[in-house]
Amino acid sequence: MKVLIVGGGGREHAITWAVAKSKRVDKIYAAPGNAGIAELAECVDISVMDKENLVKFAKENDIDFVIVGPDDPLAAGVADAFLDAGIKTFGPRKNAAIIEASKAFSKDLMKKYDIPSAAYEVFDNAEEAMEYVKTCKIPVVLKADGLALGKGVLICMTREEALAGVEELMVDKKFGAAGNKIVIEEFMTGREVSVLCFSDGKTILPMTSAQDHKRAGDNDTGLNTGGMGTFSPSPFYTKEVDEFCKANVYQKTIDAMRAEGREFKGVLFCGLMLTADGPKVLEFNARFGDPETQVVLPRMKNDIIDVMEACADGTLDKINLLFEDNAAVCVMLASDGYPLEYKKGFVIKGLENFKGKDDYFAFHSGSKFNEEGQVVTNGGRVLGVTAIGKDLFEARANAYKATELIDFENKYMRHDIGKAIDEQ
Ligand code: AMP
Ligand code: GLY
Repeated sequence: MKVLIVGGGGREHAITWAVAKSKRVDKIYAAPGNAGIAELAECVDISVMDKENLVKFAKENDIDFVIVGPDDPLAAGVADAFLDAGIKTFGPRKNAAIIEASKAFSKDLMKKYDIPSAAYEVFDNAEEAMEYVKTCKIPVVLKADGLALGKGVLICMTREEALAGVEELMVDKKFGAAGNKIVIEEFMTGREVSVLCFSDGKTILPMTSAQDHKRAGDNDTGLNTGGMGTFSPSPFYTKEVDEFCKANVYQKTIDAMRAEGREFKGVLFCGLMLTADGPKVLEFNARFGDPETQVVLPRMKNDIIDVMEACADGTLDKINLLFEDNAAVCVMLASDGYPLEYKKGFVIKGLENFKGKDDYFAFHSGSKFNEEGQVVTNGGRVLGVTAIGKDLFEARANAYKATELIDFENKYMRHDIGKAIDEQ
């Protein structure tokens, strides 16, 4: 089988690694891929948003199966373009990817179908939003309706911050059209956990749980980032929480989407907060998480192609999804300065230490080859070092040990990934 993977981040590197293990796959292409993915796949220089050339490439190269990784192309209908050309594809159509692309849509869906989430109001008028935050309960959370690279959420601890936040999103349009509409949501507290679920539109199979670390600095300080590290499983995702979510969140959401004529096939990422009133949905994403994927897929026992094909074919009820009884930790190595200004183009040393290893990995997020053919840094997040262990403590120790094997100028990482496991 010939597979095309659309994307070029750490998530796509982990997906490519899992696809490369499949006995059913002879050849992998990635568009555009990166320097890490290039070890496992042939990288082709086509943008993830270039539907026309992606489909043309797939047809000319007899691609049997396409996997679309990131949110932007899914929201723009890249999966639809492949499906409409008769190519089997993993990833939701645009009309289902809206569950991530519009926060107002997902909040209205949860309200209509009684899926637990924070109380909210939607505004498409800045003055009305201002009036609302003048009297609402504080703290309060403002969310740009559209996609904003995971940065369109403002947690406002004071009324002044909330007023300034409305101005930033709706008047100054800090996130462009994503802020034409905003969701204003009740502030909740609790531990966060991510559960990525495979779905074929009818059946939904949750994967093992994971926890992300979104802030740039140790002890959850600094700006929000795309994710500085993850661990899996989350010890806080207990059997009780799992049962609650199976009864009240996962299947209900997939059934709700189908009832709305928006059959969801692909990965439904459920971002949950474990509040004193029980688990509540913070957000849905229509794709694998980054860097959740880097700790979840290395623990999966199934052939990923069997599972993804079952999602596309509507036969997921035949799959027995299994994970190893171990743990994984991913520590993101970033460029100092991320998520603001940073330099790139520095040579990454030590990658050879990861060749052929099956208990620790370097999943590239932002890397490329320079003119001399050396692998250099090419992004804020450079690579995620994932390690496996028999439990979270061992996995964490292994991951930090493995981070020492890599060096590049401006290397920055958090030193407290997985600290929460000390508090369980
Ligand atoms: P989202 O993209 O909607 O998941 O929001 C990004 C982050 O903002 C979440 O991971 C939470 O840490 C935080 N957050 C979002 N909504 C709320 C809320 N209602 N209460 C407290 N924190 C929130
Ligand atoms: N790690 C969070 C996300 O992928 O959205």
